[in-house]
Amino acid sequence: MEAKDSLLKVRILPNGPILVDGKVELTLSDGTVVEKDKLHLCRCGASNNKPYCDGSHVKIGFKG
Ligand code: FES
Repeated sequence: MEAKDSLLKVRILPNGPILVDGKVELTLSDGTVVEKDKLHLCRCGASNNKPYCDGSHVKIGFKG
C-alpha cells in the first residue's frame, strides 16, 4: 500500500477493520492495482471480499 500525494490517517477500529483515510494505491495479491481515497481493511480474516471488510467481523463476534 502506498500513499499518493496526501497524508494518511490509519485507525484500528475496536473489534473491527483497519480504517485507512487518504489517497492510496493498493496492489492486490493478483497484481491488480487500485486507487482508493478511503478503505476499510479486514483484520478478522472472515471477510468474503478480502482485503476489504465486508462486515463479517460482526457475525463472528471478532474481538480485538
Ligand atoms: S474486519 Fe470486518 S470483515 Fe474482517
